[in-house]
Amino acid sequence: MCGIIGYAGKAGAEKFLLQGLKKLEYRGYDSAGIAVLDEDEMQVVKCQGTLDELENRLRQKSLRGYLGIGHTRWATHGVPSDDNSHPHQDCQGRFALVHNGIIENYQSLKAELQAAGHSFCSETDTEVLVHLLEEVHQGDMIAALRELQEKLAGSYALAVVDNREPEKIYALRQASPLVIGLGEQENYLASDMPALLNATRKFHILEDGELAVLKEDEISIFSAAGEEIEADIFQADWDAEMVKKQGYEHFMLKEIYEQPTVVRRLLAAYLDRDQVKLPEVAEIWGDEIDRVLITACGTAYYSGLVGRHILEELANLPVEVEISSELRYKKNFLDENSLTLVMSQSGETADTLAALKLARSRGSRVLALTNTIGSSIAREADAVVDLKAGPEIAVASTKAYSAMLTALYLTGLKLGELRATLPERELLTYRRELLKLPEKITAALNRVEDSCREAADYLKNHSSMFFIGRNLDYSLALEGALKLKEISYLHAEAYPAGELKHGTLALVEEGVPVIAIFTRRGLVSKTLSNVKEVKARGGRVIAIATAGTIEDKEEFDQFIELPACNELWAGVLTVLPLQLLAYHTAHNLNCSIDKPRNLAKSVTVE
Ligand code: F6R
Repeated sequence: MCGIIGYAGKAGAEKFLLQGLKKLEYRGYDSAGIAVLDEDEMQVVKCQGTLDELENRLRQKSLRGYLGIGHTRWATHGVPSDDNSHPHQDCQGRFALVHNGIIENYQSLKAELQAAGHSFCSETDTEVLVHLLEEVHQGDMIAALRELQEKLAGSYALAVVDNREPEKIYALRQASPLVIGLGEQENYLASDMPALLNATRKFHILEDGELAVLKEDEISIFSAAGEEIEADIFQADWDAEMVKKQGYEHFMLKEIYEQPTVVRRLLAAYLDRDQVKLPEVAEIWGDEIDRVLITACGTAYYSGLVGRHILEELANLPVEVEISSELRYKKNFLDENSLTLVMSQSGETADTLAALKLARSRGSRVLALTNTIGSSIAREADAVVDLKAGPEIAVASTKAYSAMLTALYLTGLKLGELRATLPERELLTYRRELLKLPEKITAALNRVEDSCREAADYLKNHSSMFFIGRNLDYSLALEGALKLKEISYLHAEAYPAGELKHGTLALVEEGVPVIAIFTRRGLVSKTLSNVKEVKARGGRVIAIATAGTIEDKEEFDQFIELPACNELWAGVLTVLPLQLLAYHTAHNLNCSIDKPRNLAKSVTVE
């Protein structure tokens, strides 16, 4: 959600900033801008639109200079427009500032600043920051930023440059991510690591309240308490190749096809024939724990819904799943006898982070399943399982979902082992089956690709459709509908199959697509009855089923068959055609697949 980039070095800043913003574009893409200092001349170019628009402007007016900051925006306060784009400047044009997050008290601050004579040219909360800086700055930027910190409420990662100190970038983080990259005779700043992998793999991740000063040959970090501290440098195990499309037309397709590798990598790390390793789960476990809460948002939440079935079945524990943004509004029964599983690809989702903090404040132990080690969620949790999916660039999450399911399968087995709910022979069978999953995922992708294209040709002509299933299949249906909505902009709704007849069936008429999911043999006859109800009203039914689940395929207009699989692990196969259906439908409709309208990766605002 909004991307920040910064460069201090000996090469042209403009080029570096533009390249970095391209890598960050998935965090927001409704407007962009950069500020580059040429000695004491502050040059700012910004505009509404994608980065191509900014590049066009810079072709007409290229910026000289070796230090600068940039921003790609996902609008919160104020429509996408040239004026609302970042960087923002103070009345004198001395400072330029970019920001990610939300300043909750900006209205009162703005009123005070206007009363003091500052004139504003945008509707953003961010502009308040730069005028406030102008107001309090007495010649010492660090002191001024600390004063800002005291006055601000909300979340912010910000970078600021001053034309009187043209060799420095100042950065400050409070509840929004910001990383510093270290280079040879140059240093960098970004909202996340993938943006900088072309330049470095050495990072310091800013903690809340930390302030940094970057120069081309030096970085200084100051703790929240104001003391200068040593940078805590670590080497990322991601590399620049991972953030390229590698011949695929879209990142989403590349990431769909990466799923066998991702699941293989996870299993190699956490499982062998004799045991589920996962020491993180063993460490956090205590015999007094008698229930689990899973909390997450969006796709991660839907993986949690599948996880509930798995954990309940394998570990024989009551499991609740709650959308993170709702958790605080409900009575919860979290305490030291509960374990909270927090799931997040980015590790920065503000709602999920708030849920994590709530769980901890109630005494619950927190296990995070995240794809971003070093993220806020990873650092706040008591223990962390690294999802090892590699950088996910497409806004629509695919490989992280499969990684989450796999991690949940493994967690379920580990808890089953710790609670002695599973006999050793059963555990052995499960472990063997899991080790075969990567091959099955590859086989499934090969098997369903063509039929998904065919189904997508039909779906593209329909403005509304339904996904149905029972039990675990309903959890999968929810993910199928979300994927389709977010990238193809067609309306899709998921329903427990048995629930259609209680109202929604009224919307089914001639030709309305209904995608029915079947992975559980025991539920087939019941879901089939619901399919018949749809057919009787003229609906067109596309089945997605694991081999051996359904014998009579006559009922269906199209049948997409997956390799046979233990019902427990079928989710990781079933999601593949759901992702491909969404992808090909969006492709048919010429949608912006990797960067769907109105959305952004890493949702760092509540
Ligand atoms: C949908 C999607 C979102 C995210 C959600 C949580 O395709 O990507 O629904 O799943 O915003 O994000 P993370 O997992 O980063 O917490």
